Amino acid sequence: MSHKITLITGATSGIGKETAIALAKKDHTLYLLVRDGTRGEQLKQDIVGQTGNQDIHVVLCNLADMQSVRKAATQINERLTTINVLINNAGGIFDEFQHTADGLEQTFATNHLGHFLLTLSLMPLLLNGKGRVINVSSEAHKPAKTEWINDMQFEHKEYSAFKAYALAKLLNIYFTKSLVDHFGAQGITAYALHPGLVNTGFGGSLSGLGSLLMMLARPFMITAEEGAQTSIYLATEPGIESLSGQYFKKKKPAKISSAAKYVPARERLWQLSEDLVRNV
Ligand SMILES: NC(=O)c1ccc[n+]([C@@H]2O[C@H](COP(=O)([O-])OP(=O)(O)OC[C@H]3O[C@@H](n4cnc5c(N)ncnc54)[C@H](OP(=O)(O)O)[C@@H]3O)[C@@H](O)[C@H]2O)c1
Repeated sequence: MSHKITLITGATSGIGKETAIALAKKDHTLYLLVRDGTRGEQLKQDIVGQTGNQDIHVVLCNLADMQSVRKAATQINERLTTINVLINNAGGIFDEFQHTADGLEQTFATNHLGHFLLTLSLMPLLLNGKGRVINVSSEAHKPAKTEWINDMQFEHKEYSAFKAYALAKLLNIYFTKSLVDHFGAQGITAYALHPGLVNTGFGGSLSGLGSLLMMLARPFMITAEEGAQTSIYLATEPGIESLSGQYFKKKKPAKISSAAKYVPARERLWQLSEDLVRNV
């Protein structure tokens, strides 16, 4: 791959940070989309210091706040004409049911809708760059059921952090496949991935059973650097276009749940997401 312009969300920590460092070493121009400007500037200095790559830029973007996402996309559209790689990596699991300022359930907003709006707002640039969109999903998508899409924001059923997260990661796979449905013919490729069970800040705010499960799992987790490998592979490997739309583990296409293969659900998600971003 020749010189690439790459955007990444959630690079202030964990898998995203290691992905950003590796891509900076490979001479990508990097745009780090972060929600905390001070930490973003610190991250930029770290990456410049570690890699010698000076072409690192910080853009404020809180994915749980659609106005912030719109503002970030406007700034990027003003500064760039092309994007080659967009890595939708930011994510989280939340103990408590909480609405964002837009009135959206926070797991849904952070893991799915913010990235949906960001990606579509950057689509002209991605089209110019025959861009790759990489969505960091998870094996955690597997317990999620197709019918959960009828209540994606837990308006009618009791909130569960694990159910909300499982659903959000299923939505990442639907979104990946829908990007190919809508833009594949125009040269866009999209990939979803599971990074592994990775020792990062992920799940750090969980309490009770969630925190206990995280603690028990920690000794079996891989490092953030190891967890970044599939994202780095998808961002850099030439000649993988025929695998567009697939879900990867350990740099290889992997099985998804039967719910994730259900085409009407992903079409419905696209429609619902378009309606939601139009109204917030
Ligand atoms: N760790 C695992 O075992 C595992 C397994 C499967 C999938 N994943 C997925 O991997 C991705 C990266 O997670 P990680 O393990 O590296 O966790 P992490 O260390 O907690 O990093 C999460 C990143 O997302 C950012 N973020 C969270 N909410 C945001 C918001 N509203 N706006 C902007 N940025 C936001 C965080 O920013 P701040 O620094 O500002 O908080 C941080 O940079 C996530 O999508 C996660 O679901 C992780």
